[in-house]
Amino acid sequence: MTADMVPESTPNQDARHANQMWGGRFAAGPSAVMARINVSIDVDKRLYSQDIGASKAHAAMLAKQGILNAADAEAIIKGLDQILGEIEAESFVFERSLEDIHMNVESRLTDLIGPAAGRLHTARSRNDQVATDFRLWVRDAIDRHDRQFRALQQALIEQAERHAATVMPGYTHLQIAQPVTFGHHLLAYVEMIGRDRSRLADCRARLNENPLGSAALAGTSFPIDRFVTSAALGFDRPTANSLDAVSDRDFAIEFQAGAAIAAMHLSRLAEELVIWTTDAFRFVRLSDAFTTGSSIMPQKRNPDAAELVRAKAGGMIGHLVGLLMMMKGLPLAYGKDMQEDKAPTFEVSDTLELCLAAMTGMISDLTVDPAAMRSATERGYITATDLADWLVRRLGLPFRQAHHVTGSIVKRAEDKGCGLAELTLAEMQAVLPEITMEVFAVLSVDRAVASRTSYGGTAPEQVMTQVNAARARFL
Ligand code: ARG
Repeated sequence: MTADMVPESTPNQDARHANQMWGGRFAAGPSAVMARINVSIDVDKRLYSQDIGASKAHAAMLAKQGILNAADAEAIIKGLDQILGEIEAESFVFERSLEDIHMNVESRLTDLIGPAAGRLHTARSRNDQVATDFRLWVRDAIDRHDRQFRALQQALIEQAERHAATVMPGYTHLQIAQPVTFGHHLLAYVEMIGRDRSRLADCRARLNENPLGSAALAGTSFPIDRFVTSAALGFDRPTANSLDAVSDRDFAIEFQAGAAIAAMHLSRLAEELVIWTTDAFRFVRLSDAFTTGSSIMPQKRNPDAAELVRAKAGGMIGHLVGLLMMMKGLPLAYGKDMQEDKAPTFEVSDTLELCLAAMTGMISDLTVDPAAMRSATERGYITATDLADWLVRRLGLPFRQAHHVTGSIVKRAEDKGCGLAELTLAEMQAVLPEITMEVFAVLSVDRAVASRTSYGGTAPEQVMTQVNAARARFL
């Protein structure tokens, strides 16, 4: 909220301004500063549909249990549906003086149906209400993100299939290591995102317990049936401890942790896109839709979207740490500190959504320059390991010795300023006389790639196997 929306003033001495929902024993209204620090409606109005859904389930259960008469329950449920319509039509007026979404909805219900509205809050509290609403919200967010993750995996798998045999240098330490295929490289991200999805699915399974009916902290003396509201709201079961239920925010922390890990993966891919699009690499080209020009340098194509995905991971990780810090010292049960849980959770979810959309767009649209990738493999003695492996396989050298011999051959090529395949047989034999012409076959990049047929390896046939397996596992 912005400071200019609540007038700065000394405490309001007018009892009529005391909060109409809990103001019974308060003579004066809150000071303007108190109102500003306490109000959460600007943030938690995003819980409106979960709040109304949970209230409807609660009212129906109260009626079923004979705690509420049928006529009141019907009026309450009808009124709640009307409020949902008003909020969706954007005709609902959110009042800051009513603090939060729960009291805004209940106050409007009172306008609509009169005092019967006050019966809705029987056998519950805002503490179990907010815990329920927020779990439902995070559950919906996880379902939305899962669909987005899947779309990104699909884009990656399609590019991987197209480039199952496109060779490029594989790196360690960002130094040329061994040739791989671009398809193989992209499938690495498909695996990471698969784990991100499964982490959030675990979080979803754990959070899917119903806090409603835990009331303020101790449960209630009314004969409620928490299994009925659980079923109505799609929860697997009611939470088993009312104190835990109103004070647990693990689910939001776990969600943010899952999102932060996913953001870290997206950031690594974004960084690779930044590197691959530089002039030194030119491995890929991002589409116009995901690049920007420079105001003074006409030749520039800047990978802004990738840079922003890379950057936004930092903020998301920060929110996770902030929420952990906010929770870590809180005694049981509810504390108002916990009202601060929603803004960062919404922010993390919104940012993840945006980053996933941007990354999916960039990956679907990108074009590859296979010639640039291949020519990069011609530098850096990329098949040196294949030479060492040949010395082991054909000449029976122990690998350590083969490594040493290969090092000497690389040194010769370096001195001569050529690649391994450009050395003569005589030059190789000067290092080790037993070497034969046959060695030249393994020095080709395509041979090197094609030979790595081990399960999960980079050989194009193996990449195609993994493309098909990934489709079956993830899409
Ligand atoms: N707006 C509050 C929150 O988000 C709702 C719970 C308020 N409970 C209370 N005892 N004041 O946490």
